[in-house]
Amino acid sequence: MQVLREILSTVVPAKAGTQRRSWKRHWIPARRNPAWFFAGMAMMGAVANAQTLPYHSPHQTLGAVTCASSLCHGAVRIWKDSPVLQNEYVTYTRTDKHTRAYKVLFNAKSQRIAKNLGLKEGAHNAKICLDCHAHNIPENRRGERFVFADGITCETCHGPAEKYITSHVNPVTDPAAHHQTNLENGLYPLNDAMARAKLCLSCHFGNKDRLVTHRIMGAGHPRMSFELDTFTEIAPKHFVVDKDYSERKKVWDGVQVWATGQALAVAETMDIMVDDKRGRDGLFPELVLFDCHACHHPMSDLRWKPKSVFGASVSPGLVRLNDSNMLMLRALTATLDPALGEKVREQVQKLNRAVAGEGDTKAAAMELKKLSLEAAPVFARTEFNAGVVKRVMTALIDDGLEGHYSDFAAAEQASMALQSVGAFLTKQGALPAAANFNASMKKLNVLLANDEKYQPAQFVAQMKELRNWAGK
Ligand code: HEC
Ligand code: HEC
Ligand code: HEC
Ligand code: HEC
Repeated sequence: MQVLREILSTVVPAKAGTQRRSWKRHWIPARRNPAWFFAGMAMMGAVANAQTLPYHSPHQTLGAVTCASSLCHGAVRIWKDSPVLQNEYVTYTRTDKHTRAYKVLFNAKSQRIAKNLGLKEGAHNAKICLDCHAHNIPENRRGERFVFADGITCETCHGPAEKYITSHVNPVTDPAAHHQTNLENGLYPLNDAMARAKLCLSCHFGNKDRLVTHRIMGAGHPRMSFELDTFTEIAPKHFVVDKDYSERKKVWDGVQVWATGQALAVAETMDIMVDDKRGRDGLFPELVLFDCHACHHPMSDLRWKPKSVFGASVSPGLVRLNDSNMLMLRALTATLDPALGEKVREQVQKLNRAVAGEGDTKAAAMELKKLSLEAAPVFARTEFNAGVVKRVMTALIDDGLEGHYSDFAAAEQASMALQSVGAFLTKQGALPAAANFNASMKKLNVLLANDEKYQPAQFVAQMKELRNWAGK
């Protein structure tokens, strides 16, 4: 009900006058009508959970040119009186790296990867590459103005526009326009952290449909690393979360986005693990599910430790899972819902044992997936205020001091997590030593510049410094 109160408190009295006010006026009666409101909330939930990923949508993709008129999203300058910026197309095409995603498939690196994999058609024609580097939808869902070479573009993320193109117009000028109607017409709910995680992870980690497998990495593909809040922040912004945004749709705080991203990453990993095709590669399990440096490190560099945050380590000489997202999920749940946190801890331990041959891997993975999907709504309803976020920060640092980030992937996730919680507390004015904290974070990130040179002991030492600035 916290969320409900927050949304209701944003309702402002209607005043006739400027265009902007008249646009708001249109919203208020609907919000004040409880029947509509609750139906709307219920639908929002249903839409967010059952939302079809854009590439699975049956609707037609119309093509970026349809979005790019100067009166729509192709304005050169920001429109003052519009709820959205309207220069999104220009920002996107000039600065967003997604515009390169398709082009890189023509470069020498991609062609070498394709050759190593025996893809005779070349990377730029190979489905396994195009699924993540372009908007590779079936022919019959491509509209007349769809241009394949546009690659990843508006509709790849926001959903095919066939049905919402006419309904998603500016609510200032068209009082009938409504976010809920747009969602019903196939607009993908990118504001919703769970839905966003599902979409971004579908390319930045993979899912049952597509995956950068160990074979693709062995052929030369870069190692994947992703964290939802960090990647949302580092992508050039073509939107602003301001007052009118929060009146149109729910705002998810950065820390909440990070937390939700972790829960979904664990769930998706478990899905891949139990999938008969994806989870295996011949005699072996799919190796991207494991910690890369469990295998790729010199033999003289003895790293095994008898204990981890998940309890006693199974045994030396075994390939460890990549448990970086599980570590984040455990730190979060242990702070916000200790009983669930304990279940997560026990379940990861069970999974580790099962992978080592002591138990049923599929059953253990499905149970962990279930727990991570139980955690997501906990994160959605938690009010991430300064007090809560400070406790999360302390939990992350304490795990670091205990040496639980001895794998590079874990250290990398921990660093992105600390960045996210640090930014939140700084914004709230709740991190008195923010300047020192950020300087320490910079040094921490230097230690992560090269995964092959990562030294866990240095990371722990840097965590000690960070601890000084985190406060009580
Ligand atoms: C599951 C989705 C996925 C698949 C499948 C995939 N990629 Fe990628 N690829 C990505 C993502 C995401 C990145 C960006 C990684 C980052 O920067 O964090 C990337 C990065 C790259 C890069 C480096 C880009 C640069 O700007 O330096 C190349 C080259 C590349 N991929 C080629 C390929 C080729 C060739 C294939 C097919 C054999 C392929 N990829 C399959 C998702 C995928
Ligand atoms: C890589 C995914 C991605 C691509 C590609 C993309 N967007 Fe977005 N867009 C987002 C995310 C994430 C948000 C912020 C969350 C939200 O929708 O509220 C956003 C927000 C927006 C908003 C603001 C919505 C609001 O309610 O204030 C507009 C407008 C928009 N995008 C238009 C475009 C257009 C036009 C293009 C193509 C030129 C485009 N986007 C390409 C991910 C993407
Ligand atoms: C259709 C697949 C796809 C989807 C969906 C997608 N990405 Fe990407 N993304 C890529 C690929 C491929 C690249 C690499 C482009 C390159 O550098 O050549 C990339 C690059 C990026 C980069 C630049 C990373 C860097 O190294 O600087 C960011 C940031 C990013 N994506 C964020 C997001 C976010 C946030 C979302 C979800 C809103 C998202 N992406 C959705 C495929 C995708
Ligand atoms: C179970 C052990 C194991 C794990 C875990 C593992 N690899 Fe590998 N990797 C191998 C083996 C074995 C080879 C083949 C070595 C060869 O051809 O000499 C290989 C080859 C590679 C190669 C090609 C190297 C070459 O010499 O051409 C790359 C790149 C690579 N792995 C990256 C990764 C990444 C990234 C991860 C984590 C996501 C990972 N590996 C996880 C065992 C592993």
